[in-house]
Amino acid sequence: MPILNRAAEMQEEVAAWRRHLHSNPELNFDVVETAAFVADKLKAFGCDEVATGIGRTGVVGVIRGSKGGGKTVGLRADMDALPIVEVTGKPYASQNTGKMHACGHDGHTAMLLGAARYLAETRNFAGSVAVIFQPAEEGGGGGNEMVKDGMMERFGISRVFGMHNMPGLPVGQFAIRPGPIMAATAEFTISVKGRGGHAAMPHGTIDPIVVASQLVGALQTITSRSADPVEALVVSVTKFHAGDAYNVIPETAEIAGTVRTLKKEMARKAEERMRAICAGLAAAFGATIDVHYDANYPVTFNHAEETAFAADVAAAVAGDAQVHRAIQPLMGGEDFSYMLEARPGAFIFLGNGDTAGLHHPAYDFNDEAIAHGVSYWVKLAETALAA
Ligand code: NI
Repeated sequence: MPILNRAAEMQEEVAAWRRHLHSNPELNFDVVETAAFVADKLKAFGCDEVATGIGRTGVVGVIRGSKGGGKTVGLRADMDALPIVEVTGKPYASQNTGKMHACGHDGHTAMLLGAARYLAETRNFAGSVAVIFQPAEEGGGGGNEMVKDGMMERFGISRVFGMHNMPGLPVGQFAIRPGPIMAATAEFTISVKGRGGHAAMPHGTIDPIVVASQLVGALQTITSRSADPVEALVVSVTKFHAGDAYNVIPETAEIAGTVRTLKKEMARKAEERMRAICAGLAAAFGATIDVHYDANYPVTFNHAEETAFAADVAAAVAGDAQVHRAIQPLMGGEDFSYMLEARPGAFIFLGNGDTAGLHHPAYDFNDEAIAHGVSYWVKLAETALAA
């Protein structure tokens, strides 16, 4: 099955929704207008249930098939934008200066709305489809909030699928891999407290700059000497703040950064080693070192069976040669990971063509990809819920 005729017919209308969303970007959980737009559309399509306020501002629409059956498959899109000043110069560019759909979530939302409309018109499946629109993907953990709000249980979702556009991948192509596809992220802040004093009399001080400098070097050994070299682990110190004067040894220094991993064990190991190194250096220098470690999004882990299924669906839509089934994982984070921890499923990339990269001020979702994305969602739902 190539692109659905109906999906191609709807392309212009879905693109118009996409452009409306693009003009009116909202951030984080404050996607009030976007969620209202989504909910109004789902009601107009005749969804059997439209639930708002899930995970604060998330929306779930339920479409029951015409063939009975009790299973529910979840299809998820994200709705939030980024705090970026747009430079695309497009006629539908952001009207909210400083906010921009620079990750294509406008396209994701519009494509899932298109699929919801098709599925509500045809209902050619057994069981139900839950279309999930989440807030706060860009750092706020909206996916986690929806899961914690009991979404999976409330709608009886047994499997869940996500999709993200990918600049650089040609339009009409899909890319996926089983296992880890995106990284777990963590942020750390390390505060070193020494004893300040005159720079000409260092023997009376505990110099926090010297301690923090040792620390920056020692943290590099987490990856180079504590981690199995075939496992992915990034530890980057990205901030270093200390001191105000030429002749004063300050009282404190602070460093901070990010950790990226593809396995839970590696994430645990990184934190363990960081704390041990800090404790050891504090003892060695007589300083006090506090570690504030915030595990953020977990690894986005694609379940094997659902990944093979999703790739087969993509191949049915696009042709086998257009589907990359074993791409390298990306070290960026993605909060669909929480939904994949709650239910089996898979996250797939959709080609956005030769556009600016994600999170770039010149990025724009490619409307040419719409019919491919809508067809993928429809085919996935109909195949997963075949009678
Ligand atoms: Ni994104």
